Amino acid sequence: PNKVTNIACIGAGYVGGPTMAVIAQKCPHIKVTVVDINPERIADWNDTDLSKLPVYEPGLDQVVAEARDRNLFFSTDVESAIREAQMIFISVNTPTKTYGVGKGMAADLKYVELCARQIAEVATEDKIVVEKSTLPVRTAQAIRTILDSSTDAMPGVSPRFSVLSNPEFLAEGTAVKDLHNPDRVLIGGEEDEDGQRAMEALVEVYANWVPRERILTTRIWSSELSKLTANAFLAQRISSINALSALCEKTGADVDEVAHAIGTDTRIGPKFLKASVGFGGSCFQKDILNLVYLCRHFNLPEVADYWEQVVKLNDYQKHRFTKQIIDTLFNTVSGKKIAFLGWAFKKDTNDTRESAAIYVADELLQDHAEIHVYDPKVPAVRIYADLEYLQAHRRPQFVIATPTIRGMQSDAPATLSSQEIRQLVHVHKTPYAATEKAHAIAVLTEWNEFRTYDWQKIYDAMRKPAFVFDGRNILDREELKKIGFEIKGIGKG
Ligand code: NAI
Repeated sequence: PNKVTNIACIGAGYVGGPTMAVIAQKCPHIKVTVVDINPERIADWNDTDLSKLPVYEPGLDQVVAEARDRNLFFSTDVESAIREAQMIFISVNTPTKTYGVGKGMAADLKYVELCARQIAEVATEDKIVVEKSTLPVRTAQAIRTILDSSTDAMPGVSPRFSVLSNPEFLAEGTAVKDLHNPDRVLIGGEEDEDGQRAMEALVEVYANWVPRERILTTRIWSSELSKLTANAFLAQRISSINALSALCEKTGADVDEVAHAIGTDTRIGPKFLKASVGFGGSCFQKDILNLVYLCRHFNLPEVADYWEQVVKLNDYQKHRFTKQIIDTLFNTVSGKKIAFLGWAFKKDTNDTRESAAIYVADELLQDHAEIHVYDPKVPAVRIYADLEYLQAHRRPQFVIATPTIRGMQSDAPATLSSQEIRQLVHVHKTPYAATEKAHAIAVLTEWNEFRTYDWQKIYDAMRKPAFVFDGRNILDREELKKIGFEIKGIGKG
């Protein structure tokens, strides 16, 4: 009776799309319908031209090609999908609040709440509701309250709801690989009989391709908190190595050598120790701020301050990189052409949310630079939208921190108009066009192809001295120096 044959997922984004595509691929006996209120997104998921999928992930096109219209469907009809499904994943966005109580810190749960209300309104039969979005601890309680209040309101029909927490641990850029072969799947459920039965039903779904011992089941609060904790630990490693990269630059040490030396200690491990211009992505910062907010809410200020430092250090790293560019270019970039290689927050994704590139560009624009961008997967409209969004949504901490972090006087950032942004930022179709006549190149994303360019040709077309600021430490420093570049990396003393 527990066998699930019909799944709905609300939210066809970077998580909902790939996770459901893989569930459908691996479970041909389950009909999977992914719904979204954004009709363009759904149209793109349904496009016969697989290069138009709204999410770029290596291998995703093949998974979609295999399952789509067999047992995987994308639709805007949220109500029908809810009505027909036995199990409903909530996979909508949970961004940082930009207004009111908890502004700039707390997760905005309005989209999740809307989903719960819609499920409550539409459902006439029992449903298992799965939290796939990353949520603050105890959100399941809020969802349950909303679901249960509707059953009171509908006499005669009394569907029963179970709420599960099933956070997603995929990393963008390797989503399909991570989903095919996850380190673990985490499922948290309520402790009563219904809760246990619901957990078993979801375990059954994953067991179609994930070994049982990698499917962990926990209490629901532990599961919710584990996702925030995982992201906090991951981001903390990056901020830790980035903090030391600053010291490396002062002392003549090389951060990559230090990272390798400590990473061979099995207690530390080699992964996630790459110094860079700073982490981006939609999750790390948002989830840590959310964790910090929770700690403050529960009156744990020391714990809150500890984790907040991870985000502050990341802001510092982005400023430090920008400041190095300005300092090196003789203390001004006004009217100078800075070429950006990369805009995505990491390689192998078209996602740009919270990308370091946005912040570095903004700060260079404050100093009146001209920016010329090339990214293999990010279109110009996205780049302009990111910069425009930042003008309206600077985090308060960011504004206050700026002058002290830079260690020099600077004005509070000016708000740039769309017109100014379009005058100063140019997006190119090739790296050669972006770097032509540039005073400096800044590498913001670690795309593999950046290593293989004709760097002699780039050098020849640049202004001299030709500076390269490698924010990802991916280029061959010796080779570039031989050509004549002045190259600066992160943590290269
Ligand atoms: P996204 O913004 O790419 O996708 C969310 C989608 O939900 C959007 O297409 C939006 O139109 C849709 N939506 C919002 N409200 C809706 C409603 N009421 N009905 C139907 N559709 C609705 O977000 P993304 O990146 O997929 O993240 C979703 C959640 O997963 C977030 O909580 C995030 O923290 C979490 N997560 C994200 C990861 C990532 O790598 N992006 C990894 C792990 C978790």
